[in-house]
Amino acid sequence: MPTPVILDCDPGHDDALAILLAAANPAIDLLAITTVGGNQTVEKCTINARRICSVAGITGVPIATGAAEPLLGSLHIGEYVHGVSGLDGPAWGEPTVQASAEPAVDLIVRLLRDHPEPITLVPVGPLTNIALVLKTHPELIPKIREIVLMGGSIDRGNDTPYAEFNIKVDPEAADIVFRSAVKVTMCGLNVTHQALATPEVLDRFRALDTKLGDLCVELLTFFSASYLRTWGFTSPPLHDPVAVARVIDPSLVECIDAPVVIETMGRYTAGATCVDLHHLSGEPDNTLVAVKLDTERFWDLMIEAVASYA
Ligand code: RIB
Ligand code: CA
Repeated sequence: MPTPVILDCDPGHDDALAILLAAANPAIDLLAITTVGGNQTVEKCTINARRICSVAGITGVPIATGAAEPLLGSLHIGEYVHGVSGLDGPAWGEPTVQASAEPAVDLIVRLLRDHPEPITLVPVGPLTNIALVLKTHPELIPKIREIVLMGGSIDRGNDTPYAEFNIKVDPEAADIVFRSAVKVTMCGLNVTHQALATPEVLDRFRALDTKLGDLCVELLTFFSASYLRTWGFTSPPLHDPVAVARVIDPSLVECIDAPVVIETMGRYTAGATCVDLHHLSGEPDNTLVAVKLDTERFWDLMIEAVASYA
């Protein structure tokens, strides 16, 4: 039976490929796509979700707009990585897929309430929407099967020396999520940096000789230039599809149990995910922390997903 999933995202180049993977793979029943401000403004992220669904022909999956700002403070966007549109690179036509008028939190709450079985939430952007659901409807926590997120890191950050972008944008939301009673799996930079879109990977997308395969090449070419310029990566890590892959086949992403707490106060460390690998803190093991990716099978899954679209 496919796993019912809600993908909460901030498209974003890697989010776009996460949408393609989640919508294509038969192990997932993609109930909804919700957006949150992060890589770009939430308005632009919603347009980008509509764009990728339109080009791929993904219909019947509601797209709902979520939080424009973090719980506290103001949004700082990842324009330096994803560009002014949030999905720079390709020349986009007018999206044909429309967004829902229902706010993201309302849609998530309604689906949790009405769906016959618990739903897996897959947030791959800042955690604002998820935190709002947990805080305003704690009675629905039993209807959340688990949260499998892209964010954080065992090691260093990317947006600041110690904070990964998704957590840094809204540390308070992350704190709410990691302290909740819901099982959390954290796919952090330490594992997503194993999913490098190398020239060989781009050649595999190119070899599909399809419109969508070519679009992925354009997206990843822009993404590559951003990563080379900002962090000196010769090939960019495709973060968000790793969380989706974990839901599809947990054997693809090896995890360990560990306590994870979120630094929300540090002047230089706010947004850090403090992973107690040696269990020194006495804190409970509240998180499954991803540590190793089966890279070969991951890329096979990603290429297969893109190939499955007309
Ligand atoms: O740090 C990487 C994460 O931040 C990814 O989810 C990327 O899309 C951005 O949201
Ligand atoms: Ca993202």
